[in-house]
Amino acid sequence: MNAAAAIRQEVDVCIGQAGIHVGRLIYVQQGRRENATFAYAEQWLHDLDRFRVSPDLELVAGYQSRRAPSAADSTFHFAIADTAPDAWGRRIIARDHAKQRRANPALPLLTEMDCLLAVDDFSRVGALRLRDDAGVYRRTVEPGRRTTPPLIELQRMYEASRAVERGQETTEDLRYLQGKGTSLGGMRPKCTVLDENGWLAIGKFPSVNDTRSVTRGEVLALRLAQTAGIDVAAARVVTLDGAPVAVIRRFDRAAENSRIPYLSAASMLQASREEERAYVEIADAIRAHGAEPTRDTRELWRRMVFNLLITNVDDHLQNHGFLHAGNGFWRLAPAFDLNPFPDKVRESKTWLSEEDGPVVDIPTLLARSNYFSVSEDEALTILGEVHRAVADWRRVAISDEVGLRQQELEDFAPAFEHEQMEAAKTLLDQINR
Ligand SMILES: Nc1ncnc2c1ncn2[C@@H]1O[C@H](COP(=O)(O)OP(=O)(O)O)[C@@H](O)[C@H]1O
Ligand SMILES: [Mg+2]
Repeated sequence: MNAAAAIRQEVDVCIGQAGIHVGRLIYVQQGRRENATFAYAEQWLHDLDRFRVSPDLELVAGYQSRRAPSAADSTFHFAIADTAPDAWGRRIIARDHAKQRRANPALPLLTEMDCLLAVDDFSRVGALRLRDDAGVYRRTVEPGRRTTPPLIELQRMYEASRAVERGQETTEDLRYLQGKGTSLGGMRPKCTVLDENGWLAIGKFPSVNDTRSVTRGEVLALRLAQTAGIDVAAARVVTLDGAPVAVIRRFDRAAENSRIPYLSAASMLQASREEERAYVEIADAIRAHGAEPTRDTRELWRRMVFNLLITNVDDHLQNHGFLHAGNGFWRLAPAFDLNPFPDKVRESKTWLSEEDGPVVDIPTLLARSNYFSVSEDEALTILGEVHRAVADWRRVAISDEVGLRQQELEDFAPAFEHEQMEAAKTLLDQINR
């Protein structure tokens, strides 16, 4: 038997608008085996602004290799993997490639590196960028064509994304979506756009599989979270011929679309996709690497209370993140991907702690507040603030900004009106808060 020829692909890893050279990434695939190796550039190791761009890449000279611990994990080091396309983006990249292969069967199969390089450079999550040996940031489109369209093109992107979901897309649809819908993780159909003010934003579309208005539900959740005192990504609904698109401002960009390094909580904890991890571990990571540890552990506790009260049970480690605050210290990123799940069991995906299991009730959260630097008294104040915000959900849901219709509210009610809301109210009534 002949061993399959090895494929080897190399790129420079750079950071920020200026594209400062951080290191070299080598990807090798042989048959079904693949691995990635990274070495910091000498220059970066001496840079005054140097920091560990990924928790699994120590600031030392020499190659540091990575092999995925399970088939569910990325081949790449954590921070690099955070910029790779996930389910939705891969679907577009893979469909387009499959169409091209039909026309040209000699075309090689896509490697994991090809997928990583297919992500649009302008909208790639965080600040890391990949530059090929010709000096081109991958992926960059031909001069004169843009990949990140203005808001007025949402309709076109929405139609193309629906066609992809239905498996009825044309080559032109795929060409159009390349780079526009691929730079972000997550499952749901989405794209990147520039809003009216030139800020990079995400457009999250209704899916053909939705049974309720998921996009309005997400904007509702983000609005309530904001009222509950949580730092959230700025979100609004933009309606296209009656179809509501959630438009969410990117928090990993600052003025002039400059780039802020991003790490998912999964990366911060160096968690395998198959591992169960807990909020107390996120709190530990915040204490170890946080720029403002007390503020952030308290914020995290508030988010746990909020997620429980709105039944956001999709709180896995890719749905929490961190932004670099300088010198290797990180802040909790604004909350995102918050959704009420009226038809799911109220049980968090990320556990509270190994002993406590998932977050399922208020009393246990109160009992653990100290771990998150929240005193008993402050815990009740926070609970009061979050409860008040969530209790107002019906009014916010039908407000112009969210735009749910009265008759749609019953679809969502079980997420917001349940025994934990009751328990919170009883407790708060007793102490008059
Ligand atoms: N406001 C934002 N700014 C920057 N990156 C974001 C923002 N919202 C989401 N992301 C990134 O995009 C990914 C997918 O977005 P998400 O809202 O979680 O989509 P899905 O509902 O498909 O999971 C996230 O895991 C995160 O890396
Ligand atoms: Mg998500």
